[in-house]
Amino acid sequence: MSSVNIITIDGPSGVGKGTAGVVIAKKLKYDYLDSGALYRLLALGAQRHNVELENEASLVALAGHFDIAFSDDENGEIKTFFEGEDVSGPLRSESIAQFASQVATYPSVRSALLDRQRLFAVEPGLIADGRDMGTVVFPDAALKFFLNASFDARASRRHKQLIERGENVSLRAVRDQLQDRDSRDQNRLVSPLFPAEDAVEIDTSNMTADEVVNTLLEIVALKGFFAEANA
Ligand code: C5P
Repeated sequence: MSSVNIITIDGPSGVGKGTAGVVIAKKLKYDYLDSGALYRLLALGAQRHNVELENEASLVALAGHFDIAFSDDENGEIKTFFEGEDVSGPLRSESIAQFASQVATYPSVRSALLDRQRLFAVEPGLIADGRDMGTVVFPDAALKFFLNASFDARASRRHKQLIERGENVSLRAVRDQLQDRDSRDQNRLVSPLFPAEDAVEIDTSNMTADEVVNTLLEIVALKGFFAEANA
């Protein structure tokens, strides 16, 4: 393994990537990259600066040097900042997710975000969560996961998540939004969502969030990451 150990976790929305990624990063004392948050921050930044979806050049310029930051609060929760303001709440809305997935279809925007994502790879290691972590951003990662689940399971998890966050949204609307996002993520010309050839694929349809975490942790342990972290 290189001196920076990278584990990638890719997959569509609602498969349990984020929860698993955060837990594994804490256990291994690795950094954690939520690459979806970068696309969401770009969407939020575009809204705040009145940049329209059609204005590709301004989106690329914003992606090149927008002022963003991540930090853990006193409860260990990750907080996300845009131009110094805590935007962790608004960032999670489905409307931002939709806009993010539209912004994410521009190859120029994706390449403007590449270096920013790679800067997260610092010793001792990184857990990178997203859609193209194992295929494009970190193709040499030491371990790659691709999580998937049935559409019904993902939609009901996403619905529960949004309700818990206080969004008043029907399951039907969530299903429609998820369908839109899936089709954009799977069919875009650059970096579409698909498993890396060497990814460990896991179907989480019938697993609880804890089971997903434990399954991934077992594989991480089998691959020797904990032994290395404790050496
Ligand atoms: O993971 P999350 O739901 O926060 O991602 C929001 C959107 O950002 C996704 O639907 C996808 O279009 C885009 N995205 C991406 N590549 C990534 C991560 C997210 O295109 N690596």
